Amino acid sequence: MEPSHGSLLYEGKAKRVFETNNPDELLVHFKNDATAFNAKKHSQLDGKGMLNCKISSSIFRYLGKEGVPTHFLDEIQDCWMLARKVEVIPLEIVVRNIASGSLCRETPIVDGTELSSPLIDFYYKDDRLGDPLLTEKRVLLLGLLSSSQILEIETLSLMVNTFLKKFFIGLDLLLVDFKLEMGLARNGKLLVADEISPDTCRIWDRNIEDKQDRILDKDRFRNDLGGVMEGYSEVFRRINEAYS
Ligand code: TMP
Ligand code: ASP
Repeated sequence: MEPSHGSLLYEGKAKRVFETNNPDELLVHFKNDATAFNAKKHSQLDGKGMLNCKISSSIFRYLGKEGVPTHFLDEIQDCWMLARKVEVIPLEIVVRNIASGSLCRETPIVDGTELSSPLIDFYYKDDRLGDPLLTEKRVLLLGLLSSSQILEIETLSLMVNTFLKKFFIGLDLLLVDFKLEMGLARNGKLLVADEISPDTCRIWDRNIEDKQDRILDKDRFRNDLGGVMEGYSEVFRRINEAYS
C-alpha cells in the first residue's frame, strides 16, 4: 500500500519522488528497477527497493547522529522515505578508498589497490552526455559551483567517508567507493541527498579473499555475477543486527 502523497515530481531510474502537503518535504519511493551502463542494462529485482530504502534509512540515521546534515527525515513504509526537499546539485560526487570500476578502466591502477588518501571525482549528472567526469575547472566553467562551494562539498564528502568507513568496518565490510548527491535546502544549507545503498556504494566482505565472492553491491548486477539480492540482503542483515 502506498502512503498518501501529492503529485509525482520526478521519476528516475531507481526512484520516484512525490510532493507532500508540506512544501519542504518529499516522499521518495525506492523502485525494484536495476539499471547499469546508463540504463543500457535493465532488470527488475524483487525486494531491491525495500532493501535499499531500509539500508539508506539506517545509514542516514547513523550519519545524522554523527552530525552529518542529510535530507533524511523518516522511513515511512517498506519502500518509502520522507526527505527534506532540496535543490539537487547536478553532480555525482564519487569518493574512492580502494581502486575499482572506472578508475581501473581509465588508469593503470590495479583493482583492489588501496589509495593513500581518498580520491574525490565529480561527474556531471546528464544521461544524454553519459555522466562525464569533470575537472574542477570544468565545474567552475559550467557555473555549477563556486570555488568555496567545491571546498564545502569536498569537506562534507570526506566527513561522510570517515563515518561510513567506520560504519562498514564495524560490520566487517570494506567501503571501496561510493557516490553521493547533495542539494541545498530552502535555508541554503548543504545536505547529503538521494540514497546511500549497495546501488551507490561498492561494498566488499572483509573476510572473503575471492575477488568475486567478496562483492555485495551492484557490481554483482553490472558484471553478471548472480546473487545480487543475496549480496544486498547480507549488507542489510549485518546493519539490522548491529543497529536495530
Ligand atoms: P565507477 O567506478 O563506475 O565510477 O563508480 C564509482 C561509484 O559510484 C560506485 O560505488 C558506483 C557508484 N555509481 C553510482 O552510484 N551511480 C552511477 O551512475 C555510477 C556510474 C556509479
Ligand atoms: N545507475 C547507472 C545507470 O543506470 C549506472 C551504474 O550504476 O552503473 O545506468
